[in-house]
Amino acid sequence: MSDKKIGIDKIGLYLPPYYIDMVDLAHERGEDADKYTLGLGQEKMAVPPESQDTVSMAANAALQILDDDDREKIDLVVLATETGIDKSKAGSVYIHHLTGIQPFARSIEMKQACYSGTAGLQLAVSHIANHPGSRALVIASDIAKYGLNSGGEPTQGAGAVAMLIKEDPRIAIVEPDSVSMSRDIMDFWKPNYLEYPEVKGQYSSMQYLDVLSKVWAEYQKRHDVTVEDFESFIFHIPFTKLGEKGLRKVMKGAAEDKKAELKKHYEHTRLLSKNAGNIYTGSLFLGFLSSLVNDPHLSAGDRIGAFSYGSGAVGEFFSMELVEDYRERIDLEAIQSLFDNRHKLSIQEYEDSYNKELPVDGSEYETDYSGDNSAIIVAGIKDHERQYRVR
Ligand code: HMG
Repeated sequence: MSDKKIGIDKIGLYLPPYYIDMVDLAHERGEDADKYTLGLGQEKMAVPPESQDTVSMAANAALQILDDDDREKIDLVVLATETGIDKSKAGSVYIHHLTGIQPFARSIEMKQACYSGTAGLQLAVSHIANHPGSRALVIASDIAKYGLNSGGEPTQGAGAVAMLIKEDPRIAIVEPDSVSMSRDIMDFWKPNYLEYPEVKGQYSSMQYLDVLSKVWAEYQKRHDVTVEDFESFIFHIPFTKLGEKGLRKVMKGAAEDKKAELKKHYEHTRLLSKNAGNIYTGSLFLGFLSSLVNDPHLSAGDRIGAFSYGSGAVGEFFSMELVEDYRERIDLEAIQSLFDNRHKLSIQEYEDSYNKELPVDGSEYETDYSGDNSAIIVAGIKDHERQYRVR
C-alpha cells in the first residue's frame, strides 16, 4: 500500500513473576469457575510484585529486544500507559536512561486508556517516515487493578510489550490505512483522586463492540475491502471472550468456511492474554505477539486487521502485513520462560500483597524484591525519587 515500508522490527514482552489461577479466584469469590474460564475466557492472571511498576516493567520489556545498534539509532522513546508514576515527568525518560539509549532522543508518555499503545505506534511510524534511518522504541506498560472483590477483579493483569519501529521492518509493515473514532463517554475512567477506576462493566463492553462495528464499517468503505481481504484479526483483549465477540462483529456476512478459519486464528491470538489478563495499553500487541508465537497457519504476506480500543473512548482499526521470516525475529524461548518461570500465588498471598500498605505520601520505603529476579526493579522511594536498580 505504501512506498516506504515502516513497521515493527522487534517485539518483546515482560510479565511479572507472579500469577493467580482463575479457578482458585472463582472458588474464593463464590463464583462458578466456568464463569471466569469460559464466560470471560481467562485462565491465569498476572500479579505484579511491589518491586515492579509501569516504568520498570517497560524497561524490562525493552531490554528483551534492544542491541547496541538500536541504542545508537533510536531517537524517539514513547511510553504508552494509563498507570503512570508521575503527573509531569514522562516514564520514558527513565526508560531511555535505564536501557542506555543515546542522548539525542525525544522521550514522551502518551495517554488515552488502552488505546495509547496504538497512538504510540502510529506516532512512531510517522516519525520514522520523517526521519529516515532512525528508529523508535514504543513500549506499552500497565498494571490493571480494580480492587479485591470488585466486578472487574477477574479482568486484572499486568505487563509490558516493547516494539522497535523502523523502515524495512522484519516482523510486520504497519499500513497507512487507520480509521479512528472518538466518542466522549464515561464507560471506564480514573479520576486523579481515586485509587481504582470507575467502571460501568456491561456498558463498557457494549461501547467497545459498537465502536468496533463503526470503525470497521468505515474502514471497509474507505478502503473498499471486506473480511475476505484479511487472514486474521487481533483485538484489544480486556478478557478474551470480548475479542471473540468482536470477531463475530467483524465476520458478519462472511462465508462459513472463512468464519471457521478466522475463529481458528483467534484461538492462537487469545492464548497469551488468557494467561496474563488485561495489560491495558499492551493488550492489542500481546494478541499480536500471541499470533506470531502460536499461529502455525500464518505466513509472510498475510494481512492482519487490528482493532484498538481505549475507554473514554477512542477506537481505531488498522492493518499490518507480515514479512518474510517474521517468526525468526521472535525470541520464543524468552517468551515461553516468562510464563514457565512465574510463581503461582495462593489467593491469600495475592490478597496479602494487594492489602500491603506501601506509603503513598512520599515517605521513604524499601521494597521487598526477594522473589523478583527481573533485570530492573524498583528498590524503593527516597526523597520522593523512585530508586530503580539494574542488575
Ligand atoms: P460480570 O458482570 O460479573 O459478568 O463481569 P457477566 O455476568 O457479564 O458474565 C460474564 C460472562 O460469563 C457472560 O458471558 C456470562 O453469560 C458468562 P456473555 O453472556 O457476556 O457471553 N457466565 C458463564 N459462562 C459459563 N458458565 C457459567 C457462567 N456464568 C456466567 N457458570 C465484566 C463482567 C466484564 C462486566 C467485569 O469483569 C468488568 O467490569 N470488567 C472491567 C471492564 C471491562 O473489562 N470492560 C471491557 C470493555 S472496556 C475496555 O476494553 C477498556 C479497558 O481495557 C480499559 C481501558 O481502555 O483503559 C477495560
